[in-house]
Amino acid sequence: MRATAVAQPNIALIKYWGKQNIAENLPATGSLSVTLASLTTRMTVDLNDALQSDQLRVNGEPAADMLPRVSACLDYLLGADRAKASIDSECNFPIAAGLASSASSFAALVVAASHAAGLEADTLSLARAAGRASGSAARSLYGGFVELQTSAQEIHVETILAAEEWPMQVVVAITATGAKAISSGDAMNLSAETSPFYASWVEHQDHDLREARRAVEARDFAALAEVSEHNCLKMHSVMWGSRPPVVYWNNVTLACMETVRALQADGVPVFFTIDAGPQVKAVCLPEAAGQVLKALQQTDGVIDTLQSSLGNAARLLED
Ligand code: PMV
Repeated sequence: MRATAVAQPNIALIKYWGKQNIAENLPATGSLSVTLASLTTRMTVDLNDALQSDQLRVNGEPAADMLPRVSACLDYLLGADRAKASIDSECNFPIAAGLASSASSFAALVVAASHAAGLEADTLSLARAAGRASGSAARSLYGGFVELQTSAQEIHVETILAAEEWPMQVVVAITATGAKAISSGDAMNLSAETSPFYASWVEHQDHDLREARRAVEARDFAALAEVSEHNCLKMHSVMWGSRPPVVYWNNVTLACMETVRALQADGVPVFFTIDAGPQVKAVCLPEAAGQVLKALQQTDGVIDTLQSSLGNAARLLED
């Protein structure tokens, strides 16, 4: 009744921002991401009939605020009459700061919990369960370049290119620490209700997805860079147009974007993307990683940097 799984966050190049069904957390549009290798969440789930309630520790500390979402995810996956769970999560990178810790957490949770319960579930069913808790988590059940498509009823997720088929590096510039002011879930609902740009964002998403998929299939870095930066800035425009506005950036976020622009002007194969937080993720070809890392480290105000290659799907760890 006990199992441990490990999962990595993913970084969306074509973003998910908005739900078509809030109760089922069904995204309004598809998205496309890369799964990382060296940022990890390791989660142990121990299902125990003797427990009165679920317990969650994150990096050794009780995490009561995250517990309701975790319990709801377990209820959906295993049924409400399941045994209660003792859950231990270890994350080797900052939590709730725009580094997709919820994606790796819920991906690891569904893999560990399904094995602990002896449930025979395929990867897509697990992705759907994780996606109900955090839309982006569905993508961390898969490795490499991952596309999520949605219908009016359900999502479909698949790897469109494995990590080793087109090696890339991601350098993350940490520009602020601490939890964000508004969660991505609340912020995207606010955007859907109030941003005058939201409808057009949704309308054009299929077009951007097609362009990105084509770029990945052709391993066309310049095309992927162009559509990814466009999609990222468009998502942030939707956020900025919300009332009240949702602004996750700070001045160092902008400085990092300038750094990436300067590298591009020198012909370095790199592009930026930014999620619901102030951190800048620079995606580059492996030969450029050293130069990109150094330039971001030397950017005024950058607190820290992380570097990762592309990684594989969430998986079970043998005890
Ligand atoms: O899965 P959530 O609810 O944490 O939302 C993720 C939203 C973005 O990271 C901004 C975009 C994405 O596709 O990952």
